[in-house]
Amino acid sequence: MCGIIGSTGKKASLIDLIEGLGRLEYRGYDSAGIAVISDLSKLERLRAVDGTASLALLDELSKGINGVYSAGIGHTRWATHGRVTTENAHPHFDCTGNIAIVHNGIVENFRELKEELANAGHVFTSQTDTEVIAHLLENYLKEGANLTSAVSLAMTQLRGAMAIVAIDVNDPQTIVACKRMAPLIVGSGNEVNFVASDVPAILGKADTFYQVGDNQVVVVSPEEISLYDLSGNQLELSKIDVEWDLDAAVRGGFHDFMSKEIFEQSNSVRDTLLGRMNPDGEIILDEMRLKIDDLQEINKIFIVGCGTSYHAGMVAKYAIEHWTRLPVELDISSEFRYRDPVVDSQTLVIGVSQSGETLDTMAAMHEASLLGAKTLVVSNVMGSSMARAADAVLYTRAGPEIGVAATKTHTSQIVALLLLALYLAQVRHNLQLSEVGEIFSELQLLPPKIDQILETNDKIASVAQSMVDVKRFYFIGRQIGYPVALEGALKLKEISYLPAEGYPAGELKHGPIAMIDADAVVFGIATRTRLWEKTISNIEEVKVRGAKVVMIVNSGDDASSSLGDLAFEVPQTHPLLAGVLDVIPLQLFAYHLSIALGNDVDRPRNLAKTVTVE
Ligand code: AGP
Repeated sequence: MCGIIGSTGKKASLIDLIEGLGRLEYRGYDSAGIAVISDLSKLERLRAVDGTASLALLDELSKGINGVYSAGIGHTRWATHGRVTTENAHPHFDCTGNIAIVHNGIVENFRELKEELANAGHVFTSQTDTEVIAHLLENYLKEGANLTSAVSLAMTQLRGAMAIVAIDVNDPQTIVACKRMAPLIVGSGNEVNFVASDVPAILGKADTFYQVGDNQVVVVSPEEISLYDLSGNQLELSKIDVEWDLDAAVRGGFHDFMSKEIFEQSNSVRDTLLGRMNPDGEIILDEMRLKIDDLQEINKIFIVGCGTSYHAGMVAKYAIEHWTRLPVELDISSEFRYRDPVVDSQTLVIGVSQSGETLDTMAAMHEASLLGAKTLVVSNVMGSSMARAADAVLYTRAGPEIGVAATKTHTSQIVALLLLALYLAQVRHNLQLSEVGEIFSELQLLPPKIDQILETNDKIASVAQSMVDVKRFYFIGRQIGYPVALEGALKLKEISYLPAEGYPAGELKHGPIAMIDADAVVFGIATRTRLWEKTISNIEEVKVRGAKVVMIVNSGDDASSSLGDLAFEVPQTHPLLAGVLDVIPLQLFAYHLSIALGNDVDRPRNLAKTVTVE
């Protein structure tokens, strides 16, 4: 859940380390720190604890140290063990002060290890789980291991999902890193080599990128990058194709990443659709590693995901069931693995995760694999842990998403899942090719429709500004409108910190309607999908109880608009595709309300972009 980086080489610089940490801040920003080896002999450490201002403080502090170093590491923290204090900020040292390490993840057995190490005389200076790693390395180095084998040996002792990066003054130009179910990549540039949690951290600085697999140790020196398994056998490096440019990873003129990403949605949806239909009118999913025979045998689908990704799966469920007639069960990832799900070799388990690194979803997919299911991941990150582990992967091609609140990856996830639904219907002969073609054409019309919604940004902004004093929001919808309502509420909660609930509109009368009064604002998702009439009746029910109602309606649908106090318009589409469009005004509303409240939309409190802890 933290961001880690390391660099070594003639051109290794503090600027790169700190800029890289800036691009990793979405992974956590409780504190930031660096450790560098200068003059090939001196380990210097700087740590700053000032929430979202930590990096600026670190940058300031770094002016006081030698900017030229041989090997350096950096960390931006999302606290799990130990409060947000300087002592708990990374990097952590061993007793000798020769070894520094940064760590992302959790050492599940740190209590036992800490006790053993403390009994053996090691002195701990933090409350973190991380510090045990530095002391373990110290032990192995004392016993004669080099840093590479010390890291391998330590990893065999550590339980849990994590990535670690270590440096040692006695080997001043080398960085050693290892990962297990946590993100880590390697990059090589002009006289500088890197390790980092993800590609954007070193985009523009490295030009070639390599994968690191689970339980693989990467040794990075100025001259070379070598990969080993935990037994010390050398492995071949495998490159990652990176099509993102630096511009895609920075704000590009927008006030923040979230607004940039909301406004990128017509492109991200277009890119997700690119090349998915061949000249014969068939859907092609080129990353599909499952055989058609396998897909024809499937008799049940599970979709697992967390948060926004779960909501994308929920939208897709309606289309998959309708087009393939396969039953689809939906599960929150953290529940799936512990509930003894009924899964076998005829089950397809689809994991939805923009990062491809969310531990809950990764563990759910792992469980599904163990139970013999076929697994498919919908992810935005090429070569992510989940993408590599699954039987098949479908990329969303949304480009890097930096804002913690997911927006463009959500709409791309829905589109990717709809493509998958069409593909399944095609290979299982549930739909004629002509029907698949018609729906695909509707999908291709989504990008200009998204642009039409984005043109209403100013109106949505002024409505949001007029609601800064509202204390409670509700979002209601039926069928696809229900996950849209849930996602609208989640977006608002995440960045405005206000109570916001999403409900199936038909369920209100069974309890939640008791909360409705004149202080409530209710968003009614009332586009012309199958249950429009029933949704309208449910909206009337809250209106007569005094709530202020904001309608999400199809453009020009005055009959629907007139029922609300206000209305946001979206173009009409195929009813099963409506989830892509209907959510966008809600993203914009949450964004503008949060800005009006003075919040940091890219780095909402208590959250991290990628949740790599259970
Ligand atoms: C989205 O706005 C949230 N920050 C969060 O719910 C997120 O969707 C969830 O943690 C899953 O992440 P993933 O898609 O990377 O697996």
